[in-house]
Amino acid sequence: MIQVNLSNMRSFVPENYEANLAQQLHTAHNHLQNHDGAGSDFTGWVRLPADYDKEEFARIKAAAKKIQSDSEALVVIGIGGSYLGARGVIECLCSANYNLKKKSTPNIYFAGNGLSSDQLSEIVELLDGKDFSINVISKSGTTTEPAVAFRFFRRLLEEKYGREEAARRIYATTDRARGALKTQADAAGYETFVVPDDVGGRYSVLTAVGLLPIAVAGVDIDALMAGAQSMMESCAQPELAANPAWQYAAARYALYCAGKKIEILAAYEPNFRFMCEWWKQLYGESEGKENKGLFPASVEFTADLHSMGQYIQQGERHLFETVVRLGASATKNVVPMEENNGDGLNFLAGKDMDFIRQQAMDGTLLAHVEGGVPNIIVQCDKCDAAQLGQLIYFFEYACGMSGYLLDVNPFDQPGVEAYKKNMFALLGKPGYEDLRAELLSKLQ
Ligand code: PA5
Repeated sequence: MIQVNLSNMRSFVPENYEANLAQQLHTAHNHLQNHDGAGSDFTGWVRLPADYDKEEFARIKAAAKKIQSDSEALVVIGIGGSYLGARGVIECLCSANYNLKKKSTPNIYFAGNGLSSDQLSEIVELLDGKDFSINVISKSGTTTEPAVAFRFFRRLLEEKYGREEAARRIYATTDRARGALKTQADAAGYETFVVPDDVGGRYSVLTAVGLLPIAVAGVDIDALMAGAQSMMESCAQPELAANPAWQYAAARYALYCAGKKIEILAAYEPNFRFMCEWWKQLYGESEGKENKGLFPASVEFTADLHSMGQYIQQGERHLFETVVRLGASATKNVVPMEENNGDGLNFLAGKDMDFIRQQAMDGTLLAHVEGGVPNIIVQCDKCDAAQLGQLIYFFEYACGMSGYLLDVNPFDQPGVEAYKKNMFALLGKPGYEDLRAELLSKLQ
């Protein structure tokens, strides 16, 4: 089970911060459990690991099997909450180099997560001569980036297979009843999966949004859900000592109140990079509003100790670190002995990479704490589907708690609309004429 180690942050906050926060923790927890706080319409994820649609779950597994059997590649089209979770889990459990590996499962290309023409062309090129399918994911069904990408890839698929077969290779994950994608899917006869009404994008990785691409990559989604369920049970306990999400939420809130305004999520595993991206969206969109909220950042150690390490050690003292330790590696690599010891490294001969990394972790922890950077350690036993399911739910629950501790609605994202309105106006979308004139005058 995931453990939260707070011994390296306590000296930076009042000794009795947990007791002082007890009432607020209970209130936040009750809002999540009783679905009666701000944004309560979007708290369906709280019970999701137990109360999910089992019939749909079976269909996800069947669709994943079909894609594995008839496709060499799957194009996953989505952005934000409809993208980051799947990529995070696949890279963490199957490697950031997944597509380059020898394997019996399809390559997975993520598209529609930006507006890069070159990225789009590159994926089209990589699909040349390959059998492929598409999973288009959009809760609203109207988000510009994935909708544009879907036009291109749908056409490519239709040109290759004809409309009828293309329709059998398109899987749409969207709202149960509404939106342009749902309408399109029903008209064309695509298999559809549901983003539940009461689960927002950034809390949706354990729905079909994340589960279909994750299953296609060969990850055991039963284990992922079972891990999440075990963490759901821990997080349901209204008691600090038994609830890791309470411990983390209280610690980061106390640090925020003590002037630490930036939280850096760090891991010593490059494959964790997109889990950090997922985490940044989760916390950034949930907390960053009403001029409040920790700024979520991330680093990859030890690589970034040679870049961001300087700032972390000696820059402005407004940050703290949360380090995810993933347990033992799956592989063992022992440093070989060399007779002439030209590089002076024979003192490491016979030691394996995990041992060396452990010393780097401990050395960095002590240096950063000494330099004025509080440290929270999130310790996993190992890196597998069940642990990752635990970790996902742990971060989600602590995020909901954190939003309520800050007294914001953790489940809306009103700020995201501002750029969209301007973009639509500049693109000449009907209905935005006045704003377009105003913006063009500002751009001159
Ligand atoms: O968390 C969120 O709600 C957002 O990041 C959305 O997931 C993102 O904007 C994509 O939206 P949609 O799934 O409607 O295309």
